[in-house]
Amino acid sequence: MAQLGEVVLNQEDTPMTADQLANALHEADVVCPTVTDAMPAELFSGSDLRAKLLANFGVGFNHIDLAAAAAKGIAVTNTPGVLTDATAEIAFTLLMMSARRTGEGERHLRAGQWHGWRPTHMLSTQVTGKTLGLIGMGRIGTAFARMAHQGLGMRILYFNRQAVDDAVAAELQTEFVSLEELLQRADFVSLHCPSTPQTHHLLNAERLALMQPNAHLINTARGDVVDEAALVAALQTGVIAGAGLDVFEDEPHLSPGLMELEQVVLLPHMGSGTTETREAMGMRALANVEAFLAGDSMPDLVRA
Ligand code: DGY
Repeated sequence: MAQLGEVVLNQEDTPMTADQLANALHEADVVCPTVTDAMPAELFSGSDLRAKLLANFGVGFNHIDLAAAAAKGIAVTNTPGVLTDATAEIAFTLLMMSARRTGEGERHLRAGQWHGWRPTHMLSTQVTGKTLGLIGMGRIGTAFARMAHQGLGMRILYFNRQAVDDAVAAELQTEFVSLEELLQRADFVSLHCPSTPQTHHLLNAERLALMQPNAHLINTARGDVVDEAALVAALQTGVIAGAGLDVFEDEPHLSPGLMELEQVVLLPHMGSGTTETREAMGMRALANVEAFLAGDSMPDLVRA
């Protein structure tokens, strides 16, 4: 591999502070932020920024103010495609754990509360043959739909900006429905849309109330797509049966009450967290950096 230039690595593997990020924009030609590196408009307000590229290490880029970066002539790239399967696997894991109460079961056993098999012990919900409603049917939503349909014979409903290809629709026997119909019919609702002003609190108290009382909500997308306080209330009052969450509105903080709910599976934003995927994300970010330095068009340029 060619020598790209001097590289300064954040050795701590922790989020950078606003000051560190501002310094990076002043001192480096290319900055590689991650989902935890908040880059709001004010970060780009300084003069003589040196950075010309933000090669984001991740597919989601809602932590970067694209317009403010573009106004300063800074391009943004992401890493699509390489984390599809890993994230779909976590959605699948959360669905199974939420439906089959496996987190709760393990806590029960480890706490020494298990006294042997009983006919009515820890009864849960079967998943096979049930209906999965996907909000967002891009790469990750489609990969999850495939696992659920082919692996567990689930019926697939989806709500998306556009219909999926005919081949995918035929393969997975999908039904393209309105958001309201999806919420009313699905046994499991899974979020796979990006965080945008339009999807902020897409699932609010009113929409959660459309779901069936035995339904479960899965979120591996972004925390703010759900009104987390409304979700806690919906779970506390039995509006829905359970939830599996890998993302939260104010990571790493959880809304009051969430941690205490037994019927919620909580994971620390692990969707893309396999060694294979994180390596592939790094290589993909690097491919964008290489193209930028060579003056070529960048494969994953994000439009403001
Ligand atoms: C992403 O890539 O957007 C994930 O949320 C972090 O890997």
